[in-house]
Amino acid sequence: MKGVILAGGLGTRLFPLTKITNKHLLPVYDKPMIYYPIQAMVNAGIDDIMIVTGGRKSGDFLSLLGNGKDFGLKHLNYTYQEGEGGIAEALDLAQHWVGKDQVCVILGDNIIQYNVAKAVRDFSRQERGAKIMLKEVHDPKRFGVAELSGSRVVSITEKPKEPKSNLAVIGIYLFDNRVFHVIKTLERSERGELEITDVNNWYIRDGSMTYEVLPGWWTDAGTFESLHRASCLIAEGGANRMDSPKAP
Ligand code: DAU
Repeated sequence: MKGVILAGGLGTRLFPLTKITNKHLLPVYDKPMIYYPIQAMVNAGIDDIMIVTGGRKSGDFLSLLGNGKDFGLKHLNYTYQEGEGGIAEALDLAQHWVGKDQVCVILGDNIIQYNVAKAVRDFSRQERGAKIMLKEVHDPKRFGVAELSGSRVVSITEKPKEPKSNLAVIGIYLFDNRVFHVIKTLERSERGELEITDVNNWYIRDGSMTYEVLPGWWTDAGTFESLHRASCLIAEGGANRMDSPKAP
């Protein structure tokens, strides 16, 4: 399985911190933000990784990460997104490299307490379709929100005004190779982006979407509040832990 980490976009919600640099190079506690999704990918057993950068200071990713030695990697692949046309647009840039493989996508500003190794293993045995991960949140209006019926996800709404649940779709996605055909069928949303939520809703309609509820904490780090929270959570007990949460 290939791994794609999305670190494009302009990070406007963090202005002026991102006025002269890329959001994913900002510090989160003791490391640059981009370290966390890379470690999450490696901990999930994926070592064939492409980083999609963009916006300001994208060349600094190369100086910072090189070939990924800090993560025990021999090589890292990079590509460049012009503008900020959305998560699905950024993923599409990796099509030539992903080839016929399955793909795990992690958003560059998402940080998890534990790991997604089991979900990735489960998905690699899933013959076709996609898998998302859900997490209960207190502020679902900020995210893609899943509506469940029994054990199935029946819809996802991006940043709903009236959320149908408090289950956010976190920024770790697993797709079969049809994802690139799906992206080609998308139309731009009101915010001018190709939305990953539209991709996920395609798989739901196809009947091939599965999900898991993520153990431990998860946060994005794309707003001042969540960036601060991410640093505090990491300071308290670390991110990307390889042990399992203790039973209550
Ligand atoms: O954090 C999880 C949420 O991420 C999901 O619940 C939402 O469904 C999903 O749309 C996304 O929401 P955001 O509006 O918070 O995404 P944002 O625009 O902040 O982008 C998240 C990351 O994706 C960002 O850190 C870098 C990457 N990205 C984003 C855009 C718009 C790109 O690489 N290129 C882009 O053009």
